[in-house]
Amino acid sequence: MKRVDDFRLMFGKREYVPIMIGGMGVDISTAELALEAARLGGIGHISDAMVPDVSDRRYHTSFVKTKLKLYKHNINNSDKSSVQFDLGVLAEATQRHVESTMAAKRGDGLIFVNCMEKLTMNAPRETLQVRMASALDAGIDGITLSAGLHLGSFGLLEAHPRFRDAKLGIIVSSVRALQLFLRKNAKLNRMPDYVVVEGPLAGGHLGFGADWAQYNLAVITAEVIQYLKKEQLDIPVIAAGGIFTGSDAVSFLETGSAAVQVATRFTVADECGLPKKVKQEYFKASEDDIVVNTISPTGYPMRMLKGSPAIGAGIRPNCEAYGYLLDGSGNCAYITAYNRELALNPDTKTLSVLDKTCLCTQMRNFNLWTCGQTTYRLKDTTLRLEDGSYQTLSAEHIFKDYQFSVDHNVALPSSAV
Ligand SMILES: Cc1cc2nc3c(=O)[nH]c(=O)nc-3n(C[C@H](O)[C@H](O)[C@H](O)COP(=O)(O)O)c2cc1C
Repeated sequence: MKRVDDFRLMFGKREYVPIMIGGMGVDISTAELALEAARLGGIGHISDAMVPDVSDRRYHTSFVKTKLKLYKHNINNSDKSSVQFDLGVLAEATQRHVESTMAAKRGDGLIFVNCMEKLTMNAPRETLQVRMASALDAGIDGITLSAGLHLGSFGLLEAHPRFRDAKLGIIVSSVRALQLFLRKNAKLNRMPDYVVVEGPLAGGHLGFGADWAQYNLAVITAEVIQYLKKEQLDIPVIAAGGIFTGSDAVSFLETGSAAVQVATRFTVADECGLPKKVKQEYFKASEDDIVVNTISPTGYPMRMLKGSPAIGAGIRPNCEAYGYLLDGSGNCAYITAYNRELALNPDTKTLSVLDKTCLCTQMRNFNLWTCGQTTYRLKDTTLRLEDGSYQTLSAEHIFKDYQFSVDHNVALPSSAV
């Protein structure tokens, strides 16, 4: 009976344990989590979502405060077009986070940064270019392009000295999205180094519509593998979404995937950035507690726990401090929803906005509990403590369980007491 450790992900002549921990913003996939994956010979992700805020918390900078001070006068103005990111600050924050992470790297694995296109930041092209270029400047091993089609993203990096040596990959949810990406980038003569195929059971934003349940990761992955074979393109395919046990992973590795990307199991790792109390919510969740809804202003469906405090919250938009979802004209679907509710309920002290959420603030404060579909199984991966809470696990424990387990077994941790 095979286990994940019988396989290796190859990038050129270098080989890696074929386990990649997916990016989870905002700082849910922390540097500490990514570093463990790299130390154990796999691949970890940090995320560059809201990186100035992450830098303030981790490295005691004051980027958010400074931005808020600059744009404070605009707080009551629903036109946010003047609220711009300082590209120098964005570069500095990205470099600080990446450099500090890379300096701590040990072992033979790699650390990538997850870069979401949907963080349009009131200047989509310019900000994305700075985010990616600064991560490369600071020595990141690779960039995973996510949450968007990224048709122009390789082009933004073409002149960068590391464009051809860093690992660059893309997340797709269909063979069509991959075809489009490859067609748009054909003239650059630079293929992605890997393609992550993310199915409908993943956490975060989904690359599917309301009919997500009709899709199947194994089917889409097989289609992508077949397409690349037909085109004679030797690009590793990495399956993601709902892979809960080592045996689940083996079934993908045996059918042509080069690795798997996993995340949900690591949301309850000690190294994961979620607050302790939120990790307990993930442990406690039953299948009925998990919902896919459209409250994200990005326009993509998102999976989360129904108990997320963000759902229905009607806080004032916080774009002067954050503003990561402002499109190129300074709009965000939450601002529209909030202003509509405000006009309907001018005298209400606590407004409720049901159809959209202030994603920046809610993710930043860990009040939107996005999760994968398999979250309800997390309670089976650990021990219950005397006080009724669940024992969190080390990232190493979870990683090795994926790497060495057979027969759909999940190894429980040794008792904490
Ligand atoms: C809490 C959480 C947050 C996530 N955030 C992001 C993100 O910011 N960007 C992204 O591309 N994917 C995100 N994902 C998706 C993961 O990177 C990964 O591809 C997917 O969840 C793998 O499926 P699994 O969770 O069933 O193992 C997130 C997943 C989870 C569970």
